[in-house]
Amino acid sequence: MALVTTKDMLTKALSQDYAVGAFNVNNMEIIQGIVDAAGAENAPLILQVSAGARKYAKPAYLIKLVEAAIEDTGLDIALHLDHGEDFDICKKCVDDGFTSVMIDGSKHPFEENIALTKQVVEYAHAHGVVVEAELGKLAGVEDNIKVDARSATFTDPQEAAEFVEKTGVDSLAIAIGTSHGAYKFKGDPYLDFDRLREIHKLIPNTPLVLHGASTVLPEFVNLCNKYGGDIPGAQGVPEEMISEAVKYGVCKVNIDTDLRLAMTAEIRKHFIENPADFDPRKYLGPARTAITNMVAHKIKNVLNASNKR
Ligand code: G3H
Ligand code: 13P
Ligand code: ZN
Repeated sequence: MALVTTKDMLTKALSQDYAVGAFNVNNMEIIQGIVDAAGAENAPLILQVSAGARKYAKPAYLIKLVEAAIEDTGLDIALHLDHGEDFDICKKCVDDGFTSVMIDGSKHPFEENIALTKQVVEYAHAHGVVVEAELGKLAGVEDNIKVDARSATFTDPQEAAEFVEKTGVDSLAIAIGTSHGAYKFKGDPYLDFDRLREIHKLIPNTPLVLHGASTVLPEFVNLCNKYGGDIPGAQGVPEEMISEAVKYGVCKVNIDTDLRLAMTAEIRKHFIENPADFDPRKYLGPARTAITNMVAHKIKNVLNASNKR
């Protein structure tokens, strides 16, 4: 049991056509809910922390909570920085003991993204930490990207190959039609699988990462709306599409929104059904269990990662 890098996890996943779940964590209940599921499924696990999570919970709390989870469960867990926006935050996380960092230079021009990623790779590798980078832009919430606009935003396969070669990055986040949050598609869900296959063909040994991979499970959206919520028209990536992507090199799958929805649905339900309750353990406990059940389902039925530890 230890804090480990994602190197071996992702190499193994890539060779065996399954994916490691990378779940965003913001507090104790979310961490406990996720690790219980990974333990029960005997699955590899990445816990990831965004800048927003660092601001909300403070890095020291999150790091200690993840260390406690390792001690408590005996699992190997990778602690990853999600969407690091500059060299400084990546360096800080490396120095703090994170085992993996993402430098998200996707908003910069290609050459600048390369230079920034290279700088992070040099520092991280010198400290035994692995690096994920991003090329291409995730689709905006507002648009189902039109065919002629896809090449401007989605990851270009040739560029992906050049980027990996020039930066020495360990894994690559790609844009093929997903987006963050609960409103991913206006019409029918669409992922550019031809593009994904082409990328995987050109860089078959590079683990690919799918951001924005929540399904926005209708069961939780409906519960939220039933118990006073207002999130109409929420839609994510169908689970079959995630499983399909896993066949073509995607071996890290990022999930945050589905955690948020599971937790919120359970808490909303609890408040309406138990208006007299005011002990946070009474609603955070069931919310934690809802997370465990949802994560176990993903690991088993979507990522194909049960018993891959
Ligand atoms: O990439 C987005 C993740 O869902 C993290 O979200 O920045 O609100 O913590 P956040
Ligand atoms: P979702 O919003 O689809 O859960 O994506 C999370 C993510 O990509 C975190 O980096
Ligand atoms: Zn993301």
